[in-house]
Amino acid sequence: MGNNQMVQTDLKTLFSPLKIGAKEAKNRIVSTSHAVGWDNGTGIINERHVKYHERKAAGGAGIIMTFGSASVYEKSAASYGSVSLWNEENEPLLKELADRVHAHGALIMSQATHMGRRADSSISGRPIQAPSAIPEGVHREIPHVLRTEEIPPIVESFAEAAARLERCGWDGIEITSFSGHLIEQFWSPALNDRTDRYGGDFAGRMRFSIEVIQAVREAVSSDFIIAFRMTADPKTDALGLDQEDMLEIARILDGLGSIDMLSISGGTGATYRAQAAVVPGDTFARGTYNHVAKKMKEQLSVPVLVAGRNLDPAQAENALTNGDCDLVGMTRAIIADPDMPQLAQKGEFSQIRPCIACGECIGRLYSGMPVICTVNPAMADDSLDNLIPVQHQRKVVIVGGGPAGMEVARVSAIRGHEVHLLECTDKLGGKVYFAAMASERPHYGKHIKWLEQELDRLGANVHLHKKGTVSNVLDVNPDVVVLATGANPRSDHYITDVELLDGKVSINNKSKLLVYDREGKFRGPSIANFAAEAGASQVEIATPLWSISEDLDEMQKPELYRLLSEKNVTMSPNKNLFKTKEGTPVLEDKWTGTKRRIEKDEMIVLIGYEEGDNRLFDQLKSAAPDLEVELIGDAVSPAD
Ligand SMILES: Cc1cc2nc3c(=O)[nH]c(=O)nc-3n(C[C@H](O)[C@H](O)[C@H](O)COP(=O)(O)O)c2cc1C
Ligand code: SF4
Repeated sequence: MGNNQMVQTDLKTLFSPLKIGAKEAKNRIVSTSHAVGWDNGTGIINERHVKYHERKAAGGAGIIMTFGSASVYEKSAASYGSVSLWNEENEPLLKELADRVHAHGALIMSQATHMGRRADSSISGRPIQAPSAIPEGVHREIPHVLRTEEIPPIVESFAEAAARLERCGWDGIEITSFSGHLIEQFWSPALNDRTDRYGGDFAGRMRFSIEVIQAVREAVSSDFIIAFRMTADPKTDALGLDQEDMLEIARILDGLGSIDMLSISGGTGATYRAQAAVVPGDTFARGTYNHVAKKMKEQLSVPVLVAGRNLDPAQAENALTNGDCDLVGMTRAIIADPDMPQLAQKGEFSQIRPCIACGECIGRLYSGMPVICTVNPAMADDSLDNLIPVQHQRKVVIVGGGPAGMEVARVSAIRGHEVHLLECTDKLGGKVYFAAMASERPHYGKHIKWLEQELDRLGANVHLHKKGTVSNVLDVNPDVVVLATGANPRSDHYITDVELLDGKVSINNKSKLLVYDREGKFRGPSIANFAAEAGASQVEIATPLWSISEDLDEMQKPELYRLLSEKNVTMSPNKNLFKTKEGTPVLEDKWTGTKRRIEKDEMIVLIGYEEGDNRLFDQLKSAAPDLEVELIGDAVSPAD
């Protein structure tokens, strides 16, 4: 069945309502909580938050879970991007947000937490707090050990946050332990060595979570939804809790009769590798946690929500009909395209802009930057969501069919311009087309495919095998020219990653490869992994930086390190690459000066040695001085 032939009835479970406590969600699609980092670390909601969640509701999701790790307790540090639920200053916009989401028929709930040792005191200046003085392997900050009498006020702060949300017209709260927050820290025998009533045996370690849930239930009416979010599979032994333990904990929480819904995902913040599983990237299977959610669903009385790589409506429908869950988190799918639910309901599947699992959203957050999305420019600038038709059509010629050129072509066509896209090769996609060949990124090429379909649907004129020469451009008689001509390698003495991915340079079991990466992000390890997978006998990745992929975030790095380690790729940070007077390439240790001559049979791949290709700009300007010419994308300055 073709993509667009799937009709609404095929998604009948996905678009069926579900009772949760006293409320009803209009469908089963949930945008689960995620921090966005748009408040400059103030914890105060702003209009951008409101518009963002309203937009998702307008796109058709049944439940909008807002914020991420929203903090309930003033005296403890939160993390970058957390909204302060304890702060009454947020009330006016909390009210407005609830009203504007309700106007689209969605339910609105907020996550609420105390992050415990997982927080970061560097932003708030407040010490982090935990059951015991055991730092998180990832954040490493030694927490203040909560005294027994310091715990009830924290319990109370959850209740106050819930009462505030209900007062502001919200439908519910999601109390969370997920990804290693305070509640999970209390549960863990490895992280909780207390001897008071909040530690010791299983019942003692459960006490804090039970008190929180009961206090919240007492603080709100029976109409207000209480959800609980937890990991069902920590993906590490570091907690001393496995899947069975998590199931037992869920059973106990369910048995309290106070929660209306359980929200399941996986991973935890205790180790780098388990943390990467919290927002699983493209190396994780689709529906990564559906099977553990199913086990929960079989044993619990309340509806179960699962999140983790449920990427498209058909997959979500399958998860529901397979009995894996009652609600499906489709968070990044909705970040990539907030209209995904309503397009799916209309059967317009090919118009849904797919999430390509690139990890940029969460990666930026973990690098202390506001969230944006690689495929959805409106995440950075919401005015781009509203493409206003032009009054006077112009003829727009775009040179270069990479993602930047294709996006300009798409937007220009939507706005009503006559679009001509000139691409010198036989295919669209530019370097992304090749990057998508790396095995650890199976979804990476989907954006290009989507753009191609959209250009076709919108009637843009795509000219393949058409070089961007002055005469080819001027022949179309353009009103405006956009140059998306990309970047070229600065040296032709070495190999590029594209040549390897393209198969122009082949690898066999005798190949020896040195990847020298001064970019420090994804491309270097990715091509090293590609070469190792292709059977090269020796692969080394070297960099002048302190570490391999120095500037890559903590969510993407663990999986790349795992892949390189499993394939015995040599990782050599702190190395300079230069040529001797005789022209022999040498790798030199930056601190000891020890040198290794690169053998003649070793291929050298350079990463981060490109320059923007803007030659056509000057040529066009001298041939047609009055012509409007714009440079965009890598042609301006190459980015990873
Ligand atoms: C940018 C970003 C920030 C996130 N922040 C949080 C958070 O603060 N709390 C939380 O429980 N989950 C957070 N998550 C995890 C999501 O709620 C969700 O579990 C995860 O993205 C997997 O679902 P998906 O595959 O549908 O995206 C975040 C995810 C993203 C992409
Ligand atoms: S930034 Fe990447 S991973 Fe995140 S939603 Fe967008 S496409 Fe998906």
